Amino acid sequence: MGRARRGGAPVGARARFVLCSHAVRDLVTGGAGYVGSHMVCTLRRAGHEGVVLDDLSGGHRDAVPGDVPFVQADVADRPRVTATLRDHRIAAVLHFASRIQVGESVAAPRLYYKGNLAASIALLESALDAGVDRFVLSSTAAIYGAPKSVPIEEDHPAVPVNPYGETKLATERMLAAYSRAYGLRYAALRYFNAAGADPAEPHLGERHTPETHLVPLVLETALGARPHVTIFGDDYPTPDGTCLRDYVHVVDLCEAHLAALQYLGQGGESGAFNLGTGQGHSVNEVVEAARHVSGRPIPVVYGPRRDGDPPALVASCARAERVLHWKAKRSSLAQIVEDAWAFHARA
Ligand code: UFG
Repeated sequence: MGRARRGGAPVGARARFVLCSHAVRDLVTGGAGYVGSHMVCTLRRAGHEGVVLDDLSGGHRDAVPGDVPFVQADVADRPRVTATLRDHRIAAVLHFASRIQVGESVAAPRLYYKGNLAASIALLESALDAGVDRFVLSSTAAIYGAPKSVPIEEDHPAVPVNPYGETKLATERMLAAYSRAYGLRYAALRYFNAAGADPAEPHLGERHTPETHLVPLVLETALGARPHVTIFGDDYPTPDGTCLRDYVHVVDLCEAHLAALQYLGQGGESGAFNLGTGQGHSVNEVVEAARHVSGRPIPVVYGPRRDGDPPALVASCARAERVLHWKAKRSSLAQIVEDAWAFHARA
């Protein structure tokens, strides 16, 4: 399943062997997590063979199709990871496995330096040992800290304001140095606010424990699982006083990874790319969109600002558009909320 048919190849047992030996194999770390599990399905549809490596500390085993090779291991487990890369003849690593909570990173930075930075160092050791020379990193807009201006371009100063952003930036810098020294080629994909769910894969959606992200929290409130949404601050210098964020559909993020893989496969130059839409939406707008889509009341309470929240984070995606030929297609706020709601209402 999911193998590409190469041009003109005859059909039959012998041909199948040829197809298998040429199938593109990618390791998806964190492939049982939110974006990673969507990626596994996107890869299958594109004719790649994904191999998932996940320690299930945050991911869900049932998010990975049963016929996809699954290795339960920590990305820092060098012997297991190196053996996996070799055994499956992996061509590229897509590194999603990560801790992702900004607040937690401030309270417990060792989890981030160990779980994000040290783990990425170990993963890259394994990749180099196994001769893998293509790497796609899930990076983040958090590397920019509080931006001086929006939309943010990739050469905007990177001054993260929390350990989450610091560890992702350090990983990007390590990739840049390794790329110069060892010929590793990479794309660091700086996500803005990932949200939504793939309607073609009804079992997939955003399921974090604990949940801290706005879209699922708002939808859980619509379902009555939470009494209200607390909006963190309404005195920001934005049109309605609540923070502006650039919400990007998980399906579009996965398409960007595919484009990055293709670009690196064709010898494209390593670099970092923002992934967003170029449009910001306020917290109030997200709640309003969810009321509209769900047809349910969503009570809100205005609370104090959350530490480390910049007023506005909006991407310039010109580089991804020019170099990767990628543009978000499914990322209107209405579509994101509709697809996320379909998942939450089903779950
Ligand atoms: N928010 C609330 N109430 C909540 C939760 C969130 O008002 O209960 C607000 C936040 O203050 C923020 C917006 O909703 O303004 C979005 O918050 P999220 O927690 O959903 O997302 P963040 O913007 O904090 O962070 C996300 C990712 C990070 C990434 C960042 C980059 O979680 O990994 O986007 O834009 F770094």
